[in-house]
Amino acid sequence: MKKAIIIGATSGIGKELARVLSQNGYVVGSVGRRIHLLNKFKMEFPDGFIKSIDVSKTSEAINQLKELISEMNGVDIVVISSGVGFINHDLQWDQEKETIDVNISGFTAMANVAMHHFLSKGHGHLVGISSIAAIRGDGDSPAYSASKSFISNYMEGLRKKVSKTGASIIITNIQPGFVDTAMAKGEGLFWVASPQKAAQQIYNAIKSKKKHAYITKRWKIIGWLMKFMPEFIYNKL
Ligand SMILES: NC(=O)c1ccc[n+]([C@@H]2O[C@H](COP(=O)([O-])OP(=O)(O)OC[C@H]3O[C@@H](n4cnc5c(N)ncnc54)[C@H](OP(=O)(O)O)[C@@H]3O)[C@@H](O)[C@H]2O)c1
Repeated sequence: MKKAIIIGATSGIGKELARVLSQNGYVVGSVGRRIHLLNKFKMEFPDGFIKSIDVSKTSEAINQLKELISEMNGVDIVVISSGVGFINHDLQWDQEKETIDVNISGFTAMANVAMHHFLSKGHGHLVGISSIAAIRGDGDSPAYSASKSFISNYMEGLRKKVSKTGASIIITNIQPGFVDTAMAKGEGLFWVASPQKAAQQIYNAIKSKKKHAYITKRWKIIGWLMKFMPEFIYNKL
């Protein structure tokens, strides 16, 4: 039986993905800070594992993720869906800092534990939830778009590293557009996917061992437009 850990599984995309994986026969370890929501998951899927971890407290979080992997007697797939995002018009430092702490330091710490585990086994699958926002710097949430850019770039680096080791480790970069969760803030949202649809498409990408997937698929068009749009037009949006 395959085993997966979802970090950021208490709500939104991660919660739905934990559900989809459990329903498809995976033993799932669910991680997040909100223990009452983890307990709810455990009631729904009694064979699953739960652990309350704050990824921004990196030293503690590293040990806790190692503990969870050992409690589960190893893991095949680690999904890092934990993330925060703020519309930060006033460039408030506390919001920029929290974004960096969770989305960059927390992400890297969790990816580091997963990669060491996979490298020691010679196989595994790391899935990181980046964003369409990774493609260009965003004026309303500069730390968020930069943090997602870091995640995409970091995973590309890990993939390159792995290709030189001969290990069978898959690295999947997921770039969602808008998904209807607590995270989707602001006005003018469009092509908003349900968390269920997003989770199903992420599950399909995992099964197909994809290196990259836009969620939903049509966000590929926006991704392409964002990449090639000249700055003088981009700055007017
Ligand atoms: N929704 C969108 O439109 C959208 C678009 C592109 C990308 N994304 C990305 O998708 C991922 C999931 O977000 P979502 O939309 O599902 O939003 P969400 O419902 O707010 O989920 C965020 C998850 O991250 C966890 N988390 C936050 N801070 C944490 C911390 N310090 N330690 C551990 N876990 C932490 C939360 O758990 P606790 O609060 O219980 O800790 C929660 O499970 C994020 O990385 C987000 O950037 C979302």
